Amino acid sequence: MTVSLDQLRRCHVAVDLGAARTRVFIKGSGLVVDEPSVVAVNTRTGSLIAVGEFAEKMTGRTPEYIRVARPVTGGTVVDVELAQRMLRGLLGEKLRRQLRRKPLLRAAACTPHDSDPLAQRATVETMVGLGARRVELVDTLIAAAVGCGLPVEQPTASMIMVCGAATTQIAVLSLGSIVTAERIPVGGNAIDHAVIQYLRHQHELMLPSQAVRPLQLALHGTGLEPTGPTATEIHGRDVATGLARSVLVDTAAIRQAIHTPLTAVLDGIGKVLRDCPPDLVADLADGGITMVGGFARLPGLDQLLRNATTMPVRIAERPEYCAVLGLGEMLEGHVQPLTLNPLAEAE
Ligand SMILES: Nc1ncnc2c1ncn2[C@@H]1O[C@H](COP(=O)(O)OP(=O)(O)OP(=O)(O)O)[C@@H](O)[C@H]1O
Ligand SMILES: [Mg+2]
Repeated sequence: MTVSLDQLRRCHVAVDLGAARTRVFIKGSGLVVDEPSVVAVNTRTGSLIAVGEFAEKMTGRTPEYIRVARPVTGGTVVDVELAQRMLRGLLGEKLRRQLRRKPLLRAAACTPHDSDPLAQRATVETMVGLGARRVELVDTLIAAAVGCGLPVEQPTASMIMVCGAATTQIAVLSLGSIVTAERIPVGGNAIDHAVIQYLRHQHELMLPSQAVRPLQLALHGTGLEPTGPTATEIHGRDVATGLARSVLVDTAAIRQAIHTPLTAVLDGIGKVLRDCPPDLVADLADGGITMVGGFARLPGLDQLLRNATTMPVRIAERPEYCAVLGLGEMLEGHVQPLTLNPLAEAE
């Protein structure tokens, strides 16, 4: 594990700063925050106008003096000060109460696998600015594996795929550690982007930023599976004339557009399996792949992986919460380390 379980047990708050959503777990209270990682700032005065759900609704609809920003991009904090203000806004009174009770607040945070020291530093600085005296960083892959109930500490292999908004991380874990892993910069955002690009090129239609989500949801009724309606009506703006226009889009073609970025994910799985020792790959034939993260909900993604790998694939329960709840379990002390005591056996 990245840090010892003992250190984690002393932490009070667990934070998962994601590219799409921020989630906070407080020891004794459970999950207290699950909101989009978005802030709206007044550029004239520098004051904060909104955070979370409300700020996300403002995206693309603001007058000039309001800036809607995402302090977390690609899974790392890119604007420490803004991230602190966002967390302060989201936590509000809950943070103040926690600090009053525990002046020596300790925090734990997830970091993407293989994140560079600068990115890790940004996460630590964010939490220190909020009043944390010590910050423990845990690999998202391990936190998520604990959160979805995989036997992380056992000497059997388990394979996890964390499908986030900005990245997809794949790993084979055994004995509490990562054996092989891969991080691919393709996630839910890349899928949104593929849909937008398709509509722009094929139908010369620009989608309002807020429409991507409903469109995705409409398509998600069918997802990658060739069922459901064959065409969906979409409203947008004509690229050339700038006028409002609606087109009938073939869902099969959109499905094809979504497939293109997903090939990178399939390549990543292949690479992890190739790098993995044969004994562990044999274990995986039974255990298969567990998918977590919001983007794991894309209908048909599990079937696509099943076809590509011929291994069992399952989606975790409440996949988007696995990472933060896994951290929470470690904070609460529910995770027992594997105690290896060869002397006791010899007696
Ligand atoms: N039902 C759904 N079908 C398909 N995609 C979905 C669904 N629900 C959420 N998503 C996608 O999942 C992504 C959010 O997942 P998640 O909350 O795990 O991301 P995150 O943790 O913020 O990102 P990251 O871990 O990359 O920093 C978004 O891109 C969203 O479009
Ligand atoms: Mg995440």
